[in-house]
Parts: sequence; structure tokens; C-alpha cells
Amino acid sequence: MTVTAQDGTDHGAAALEPGATIGILGGGQLGRMLALAAARLGMRCHIYCPDPQSPAFDVAAARTVAAYDDREALTAFAADCDVVTYEFENVPALTVDTLSPLVPARPGRRPLAVCQDRLEEKRLLEGLGIGSAPWRKIDSLDGLRAGVADLGGPCVLKTRRLGYDGKGQARLKSTGDADRAWEAIAGAPAILEAFVPFSREVSVVCARGVAGDFAAYDVTENHHEAGILRVSRVPAGISEAGAAVAVDIARRIAEALGHVGVMAVEMFLLDDDSGERLLVNELAPRVHNSGHWTIEACPASQFEAHIRAIAGWPVPSTARIGDATMTNLIGDEALDWQALAAEPGAALHLYGKHAIRPGRKMGHVTRVRPFGA
Ligand SMILES: Nc1ncnc2c1ncn2[C@@H]1O[C@H](COP(=O)(O)OP(=O)(O)O)[C@@H](O)[C@H]1O
Ligand SMILES: [Mg+2]
Repeated sequence: MTVTAQDGTDHGAAALEPGATIGILGGGQLGRMLALAAARLGMRCHIYCPDPQSPAFDVAAARTVAAYDDREALTAFAADCDVVTYEFENVPALTVDTLSPLVPARPGRRPLAVCQDRLEEKRLLEGLGIGSAPWRKIDSLDGLRAGVADLGGPCVLKTRRLGYDGKGQARLKSTGDADRAWEAIAGAPAILEAFVPFSREVSVVCARGVAGDFAAYDVTENHHEAGILRVSRVPAGISEAGAAVAVDIARRIAEALGHVGVMAVEMFLLDDDSGERLLVNELAPRVHNSGHWTIEACPASQFEAHIRAIAGWPVPSTARIGDATMTNLIGDEALDWQALAAEPGAALHLYGKHAIRPGRKMGHVTRVRPFGA
């Protein structure tokens, strides 16, 4: 029997067994790598995505090509699945509300609702007393001008919804940039953040089980170019005490959300005369690009941890077998596949996307080496 708690998670549900069918909404590379991990555990995946050329279809047992608000297709999908999950957070509420009476949907509604909206993320963090960049809610050009004056110094304007890879953002040096920035985000509801002079960006990729068990992979250091993740490396340049604080922040967020599955928390690390300080940048209620290194460097990857958690299994060990560097292959870089395939020790991943576009994540390569090498 499935017991649905108020937070939308279904504590007490029985663990699924090998042979079970996992439904995944979204058919990009994250769905593809989730399906590969599920297959390793003897589970089938049914991918639901409106795009008939979805990379995840190539590695899944079943597919549905339909819109996310197609109730009939969602109902048939639910009937084929033992549990449903998502590879992206922008799942419409209607989709979750249609699925969740029919099949356990993990994570539940709340992690999605909060992580779809930067304003809700900010409110959650404030409620938990977790630091993030100073911010203002922005609904008009006048409000934006006032916000920039108020926060002082350089700022970043971010749409509340649907931003990714630096899209839906505009940087401002002063109020003089307000018109241009407001135009750049087409006047969408937004938040304005003070620009954080961070020394590093780090993330915590963690997993929380149906029973509330929790484990985090080692803190990852992330380098972005033009708003897109370029390189992730572990160990991160952070003290042991700082890493413990980062993991504790992630744990508190996962618990507050009643999250089940893998979650990532992106953070800014400030490191100055007064020591290390962490500010949360954003949350992802799903597997994350900064956790791809776990495929080669851990006995159970973030993708497997997610599958295990949503299947009602305990979360696996997140221990690592070496140091690792993961580099995204963006746009034309994927054309270097032959050289990368010939490189000893380079683990090459190509996502099977049909068209190369500038800024599009086409694959990645992970290099694992002995600890400290
Ligand atoms: N307040 C900020 N201060 C400094 N850099 C920022 C700030 N907000 C975002 N950035 C930079 O832009 C990148 C992308 O922003 P983010 O909010 O993570 O959006 P997304 O990853 O959804 O595109 C961050 O990883 C960071 O490098
Ligand atoms: Mg980000």
C-alpha cells in the first residue's frame, strides 16, 4: 500500500524489484543516463517526451511521444509504470497532478514547485536560515531600477522560471543598464541578485531515500563559461570543515522539501580574510551535470542513486575510488570523439543528439586518477 504524506512523498511504500518499470518524464541526456543506470539494476524504463528525437528513447524499453499536458497519454503512461520520476524540474503542475493519484511520483510535488521558481527557492532558503546572494523580487522596470539602487554594485537579473545554462539572465553594472536588462528578459517576473565575488563555485549532489536516509557525494568544484558548465572536478578546493557545512546545507534543504531521489545544490564559495563562507546559488531536484563524474569514480553513480531512491531502495554508498575531472563536450567539441576515444583513461560519453548547435551539450568526458595524483 502506498501512504501519501502531506509533503507529497509516499513514505512506507514497498521497494520495487528488478523487472519493475520506471517512468521518466523528459528524454534528454539525463533521462538517457538514468535509463542506462536502471538497466544495470534489471529495471525497464519508459520515457515520456514530446520530442520524437529524444536521446533517451534510444536506450529505453518503451517510449511515449506526447505533450506534457496530454491527460490520456499520461494516464496510459502511469498504467505502464511502477514509479514515475523526472529528468527536469519544469514539469507542469498539471502533469504531476494527473500522474500522482495513479502511480507514485518521486520526488513529489513540493521539490518541483520550489525548484521551478527562483523566488520560491529564495523563500525556502530564508526560512531555513541558509545564506544566498542578497536579492529583490522584480515585477517592473521601475522595480528593477529601485532594486539595483538598493542592492548597489553589479547585479544579475534572473527570470523566476525556465532559466538554464545562463539563459533568462542579464547582468547589470548600474541602474543605467536597467532598460537593456529588462528587455533582455522580455519583462518576465524575475529576481535581482547582487553579484557574488566568489572564489569558487561548488555543488553538492546528494540522495535521499523514501525512508529519509541521506548520502552526499564529495563536494564538486565547477567552472562555467558563458553561463554553461564547462568542467567539474573532485576534490573541490574547499576545506574539510567547509565541505561538511556544504553537505549539511544540502541535507537540510532535502529534508525541508521532503525530497526523494537525487538533488543538487549549487553554491558560491567565498574565501577571504574572514575565512570560508557558502552562499546557495540554485537547487535542482534531480540528477545534475556536476555529478556526471560519479559514473566512473563511484561504485554507484548519481543516476543509480536516483533510481535506487525512487525505487524505494536505501540510498547507496557515495564513496569515491579516485579523483576525477569531467569536461562537457559543447557544440562542435563532440566532433573530437575519435581523439577522445583513443585517449587512455578518458571515459567518453556521447548523447546521441541529432543536431550539433553552439552551446548545446553533446557529450562529456571523465578522467579518473588515483587519489592525490
Ligand atoms: N549572483 C551571482 N553572482 C555571481 N555569479 C553568478 C550569480 N548568479 C549566477 N552567476 C553565474 O552564472 C551561472 C549560471 O547561473 P545560475 O543561477 O546557476 O543559472 P542556470 O544554471 O540555471 O543557468 C552561475 O553558475 C554563476 O557562474
Ligand atoms: Mg546553475
